[in-house]
Amino acid sequence: MEYPNFDLTNQIAFVTGASKGIGYALAKALAHAGAKVAVAARSVELLAKLADEIKRDGGDARVFPLDVRNLDQIRRVFEEVAETYGRLDILVNNAGMGSPIPALEVTEEYWDHMMDLNLKGLFFCCQEATKIMVKSGYGRIVNMSSQASVVGIPQEAVYCASKAGVNMLTKALALEWSGSGITINAVGPTFVYTPGTAERLDNPDFREPLLAQIPVGRVGTVTDVAAAVLFTTLSCPQLKSAPDVQSARNERASGHFQEALPGVRRHL
Ligand SMILES: NC(=O)c1ccc[n+]([C@@H]2O[C@H](COP(=O)([O-])OP(=O)(O)OC[C@H]3O[C@@H](n4cnc5c(N)ncnc54)[C@H](OP(=O)(O)O)[C@@H]3O)[C@@H](O)[C@H]2O)c1
Repeated sequence: MEYPNFDLTNQIAFVTGASKGIGYALAKALAHAGAKVAVAARSVELLAKLADEIKRDGGDARVFPLDVRNLDQIRRVFEEVAETYGRLDILVNNAGMGSPIPALEVTEEYWDHMMDLNLKGLFFCCQEATKIMVKSGYGRIVNMSSQASVVGIPQEAVYCASKAGVNMLTKALALEWSGSGITINAVGPTFVYTPGTAERLDNPDFREPLLAQIPVGRVGTVTDVAAAVLFTTLSCPQLKSAPDVQSARNERASGHFQEALPGVRRHL
């Protein structure tokens, strides 16, 4: 029998939105598993701190400043990655955000920002990464989705639409690139405590009704998400490519997060 290999030693991983929150933890987890990690975001100082931490722990990390809304920057950065490492094995498209805003107050500028960040940037990172990956006939792409991709959340219409788009992009690309050695999956966490959600989750009026709907009584951790992401980056699950959005939700150890959503829907 061939056993699953959970070791990512010397694999090259590129993580967007790595300066804080989930992306920060993902970069550290990938490095801990042995990958050489290229960390990208706009906040170069935070990335440098992350790279230092990874190196101090014996890992390998390099900083790539990147605003994923800018296509020229995306193309340039992936060229630099190819020049630096000669190949790319793993892309984690984590950069993204969502903040509550009533639908009647959404401006065109807000719409464009959310779509450019959560959807357009993610697509073009997939495109550029795949140009590199096809040369080696191997790649693992993980797109950060959300429970909001399948659950309508009041005041998050644009975020929900962008994450639903992430799911469909992931499915369509998985089909288009099947047979190339590249798998592409999405991970869709429930609420996770990060700088992006801290303000809401620190507010008892928001947190307590939310927790009452989560069977284990807590929100997700960055480690919960890292576990799901790492699984999809392994070289062993060759057949796992985008049929379903993986959940890193904390309610159950496995299964599909829709099972736990009726409660969430009631809350929302
Ligand atoms: N936390 C949750 O509850 C939760 C649940 C489901 C899904 N998610 C998804 O998980 C991902 C990370 O969420 P998080 O909570 O960790 O967010 P966060 O704490 O707000 O961090 C967001 C990350 O995205 C980066 N980013 C933002 N705009 C960017 C841009 N234009 N170009 C490049 N990077 C950019 C930020 O770096 P810079 O500001 O330095 O650029 C930062 O590293 C997002 O895609 C989010 O939608 C989060």
